[in-house]
Amino acid sequence: MITNGIAIIGSGSATPTLSLDNLSLSQMVETSDEWISSRTGIHARRLANPNLNLSELATTAAQKALEQAEIAPQQIDLIILATSTPDDLFGSASQVQANLGAPQAVAFDLTAACSGFVFGLVTAAQFIQTGVYQTVLLIGADILSRWVDWSDRRTCVLFGDGAGAVVLQRSPQNNLLGFELRNDGSQNACLNVTYQPQPKTLVDDLTIGQGRYQAIAMNGKEVYRFAVTKVPEVIEKALYRANLTANDIDWLILHQANQRILDAVADRLNIPSEKVVSNLAHYGNTSAASIPLALDEAVRSGKVQSGDIIATSGFGAGLSWGAAIFRWGRD
Ligand code: ACO
Repeated sequence: MITNGIAIIGSGSATPTLSLDNLSLSQMVETSDEWISSRTGIHARRLANPNLNLSELATTAAQKALEQAEIAPQQIDLIILATSTPDDLFGSASQVQANLGAPQAVAFDLTAACSGFVFGLVTAAQFIQTGVYQTVLLIGADILSRWVDWSDRRTCVLFGDGAGAVVLQRSPQNNLLGFELRNDGSQNACLNVTYQPQPKTLVDDLTIGQGRYQAIAMNGKEVYRFAVTKVPEVIEKALYRANLTANDIDWLILHQANQRILDAVADRLNIPSEKVVSNLAHYGNTSAASIPLALDEAVRSGKVQSGDIIATSGFGAGLSWGAAIFRWGRD
């Protein structure tokens, strides 16, 4: 039984300082600023240097969110790190817990690619709504540059690195107004980073597989088609669950994959472009980080105000997609 509501009371973000613009990319692969800008809306992306860890980037975003929420690390009950690019295959959330100095917090990674933040938001809310925890830190962070094939012009122009975080707290009013999460594993091959085992014989008649992960492989056209069809549908479903319509939305904050996808989804839902938050021109597609990074910039610039209704949707590898409608802030 749901006994508690949630409020999302703070946000933070962090991006690496290194920036790669389209012009520099066009010196690496056969592409142009004109092609990338017109097909994606991306002008530059931030990239992590070899010494920057995912857990460090996530920690910085989390510290800023905690500061804005006026929550001490010792108050956190649970840390969820949505990422597909941990420093450690066993997970990086524990490292973030240690970095923050939050020894009593339970911490785990959640992997749902570019849907990770929305899946994480819903997961975080369940722990609060069932009365188990009071304060949850949710981080979306990815360093996809580690897994991009930098000689593949179809993918390397799209991705960037970053982290974003929010703090959720128990509240008398429930500000997660509606959500819907979906998967279609039959389309997994459209976008993946697969593990390729090589046979390794340990003793006679005993062979195991030991290999490595491949680079990001993507069928861009299929993913595009999937996104512009499924994202409006899932937002409408979440709005229905929230008992709201698209007219009630103050801000549409989608996973920042491609400006053309943002425009097509807004168009389908009849949401005017002034309500669409977009920062992908500067950062590219930062996977699980993209929604909290865009949200945090919109909050800090004063666009998003306490009480505003936000529709968000993540979509990507899995395939996975989901939407959440929430009211921002303590109000
Ligand atoms: N520069 C120049 N030409 C290029 C480039 C490039 N960087 N990339 C592809 N091309 C060429 C292709 O080779 C093709 O040439 P051809 O017609 O001679 O074969 C031509 O441009 C058109 O290629 P398309 O793939 O049809 O281009 P499209 O207009 O579909 O744009 C894009 C490609 C930008 C990838 C688009 O399909 C898209 O945004 N898809 C969605 C991708 C996405 O959102 N992925 C992330 C999901 S999130 C996650 O989970 C990680």
